[in-house]
Order: sequence, then structure tokens, then C-alpha cells
Amino acid sequence: MSDAARDPAAQRIEALMQHCRQRCERRLVRLFDEAPGPAPRLEQAMRYGVLGGGKRLRPVLVYAAGRTLGAGDEALDAPAAAVELIHAYSLVHDDLPSMDDDALRRGQPTCHRAFDEATALLAGDALQSLAFEVLTAGETPRAAAMVATLAQAAGRGGMAGGQALDLAAVGGRLDVEQLMAVHRHKTGALIRAAVRLGGLAAAAGDDPRLEALDRYAAAIGLAFQIQDDILDVTGDAEVTGKTQGADAARDKPTYPALLGLDEARRQAQALVDEGCSALAGLDAQPLIDLARYMVERNH
Ligand code: IPE
Ligand code: IPE
Ligand code: MG
Ligand code: MG
Ligand code: MG
Repeated sequence: MSDAARDPAAQRIEALMQHCRQRCERRLVRLFDEAPGPAPRLEQAMRYGVLGGGKRLRPVLVYAAGRTLGAGDEALDAPAAAVELIHAYSLVHDDLPSMDDDALRRGQPTCHRAFDEATALLAGDALQSLAFEVLTAGETPRAAAMVATLAQAAGRGGMAGGQALDLAAVGGRLDVEQLMAVHRHKTGALIRAAVRLGGLAAAAGDDPRLEALDRYAAAIGLAFQIQDDILDVTGDAEVTGKTQGADAARDKPTYPALLGLDEARRQAQALVDEGCSALAGLDAQPLIDLARYMVERNH
């Protein structure tokens, strides 16, 4: 019997993830089918970057957070697609030779290997633009607030800033506070945005429930990147779809490198607990299940 068949939480999370993945992918495919651009190779590279697998965790967080505050799935499709488009762009650029120089992503050659570097750069650029386009397509409540949230999370104060700190740290040595700041920016910011976008589909920006959701998201966003670092050491490339040991090979700043695997695991688990306590008072079992999934996942 598989884990999912034994464990009700695993069963719940699998059903939720499958449902959200399907919804989000339908929306993403529609974006490409409805209004193709004039450059076929760019279209192909963009589709390759965003449609070729992935856990779709950020969209799942959009749906779960939105539903927690009472939003319907129809109001969540656009923000879910938007955050995944930003994520896909960040991965295409993250893998470039001038960044992590990775050959494998989601079990396939990375975008610049399957196409070429210039096409991968442009695909990332255009995926980012498409994210903002989908948010403003007219069906989304509080679109302006969502655009601001996503722009801040993707930009210099969030993911791009974190990626710059990450690259600047290669070959050097960070203390744990500095490493935490890298991870909170490069990965945590977009996970926080996913949760806030879901919340904004149901509630005004000053609703105190958004603050509780944000404390949850900040904690699990960091836990998620710690687990990503751990899987780079312990994961199976067949399962992760990425080259195992790539961080150590490139002397990247990671939790296991700084603290060892056991302490990295302990801190990730503590963050999951912290994230779940922030949800006290909300009826949010899916978000609790997702928090646990962040550190129990093997890919
Ligand atoms: C990988 O993210 C990059 C990080 C920010 C750690 P995911 O592990 O969510 O990648 P996919 O989308 O499932 O491939
Ligand atoms: C990626 O962190 C963070 C991004 C903003 C894409 P990593 O460089 O550790 O992600 P992987 O391991 O390549 O997926
Ligand atoms: Mg990287
Ligand atoms: Mg990388
Ligand atoms: Mg990694």
C-alpha cells in the first residue's frame, strides 16, 4: 500500500494538489492557445519552461489560502497562473550558465540547453510579463493590489534581490542570519506572495486574517527552501528531476553546508510548527497539510 493510501493527510494533500494542478494548467494552456505571439521558437521555449511538469506548489497555496478566506476557485485561477509564471521564469533564469549553470530541470534538459541561451533569457522575460498580463485580464478581484504584491515579491526586494545575494555568496561564507535572508528573499518572498494573492481574492488588504496568513507563509517559505537544500544532498535525481549535489559542486550557500543535515531538518520542522501556529483561529486544514508537505516531500 502506498503512503497516500495509508495516511489520510497524504490522501487529502494528493487530492488537493491534483485538483489545483489541473485547474492551473488548464488556465496556463489557455493563455498560450488563445493569443500566441509572433515568434514560434520563443512560444515553444515559454511553453517548455512552464508546462513541462513541476509540483505547482505556489498555485496550490493560492487556492488553499483563497478558499480558507472564502474565495471560489474561479477567482483564484488567474493569480494561481500568475505566480506560477513568475516561478517558471525564475527557474529558467536560475539555470542559466551565468547563474547556477544547471543541465537538468523537472527531469528534462534546462531551457537554455533545449533551446539556446538568448531564447531562454527572452522566455524568462516574457513569462514574467505574461504573469502581470493574466492578473489584469479583467476577471480578478483587487487586481491592482495583486499586481503590487507580485511585483514586490518578484523584484529587487524579493526574488531577484535574493538571487543576487545568493550569487554574491558563492565561494564565500555566510552566517545563519545572512543565509536566512538569502532564502527568505530568493524563495520565501514568492511563497508569501502566493498566499497573499489567494487571500486578496477574498478579503481586503487590511483584513487581519491576511496578517495571520502572512506569518504562516513567511515560516513555510523558508522551510521550503531549507528542504530544497536538503534534497540537493539527500534526494534522488530520478525523483527530484534535478542534478543531485549541484549546490556542493558549485559551493552554493545552503543550510546543510552551514549547519549540517540534522540541524537543517530541525530548523525546517520548527518553521513548519511556527507556520501552523500562526493559523490558530482559522479553519485551515489544507494549509496545515501543505506546511507539513513542505518538509516531508522528496521532490
Ligand atoms: C524549485 O522550486 C526552486 C526553488 C525555489 C527552491 P520547486 O521545487 O517548487 O520546483 P517545481 O516547480 O516543483 O519544479
Ligand atoms: C532557486 O533556488 C530560487 C529561485 C528563485 C529560482 P535554487 O537554485 O536552490 O533552486 P533549484 O535547486 O535550482 O531548483
Ligand atoms: Mg539558484
Ligand atoms: Mg538553482
Ligand atoms: Mg536548490
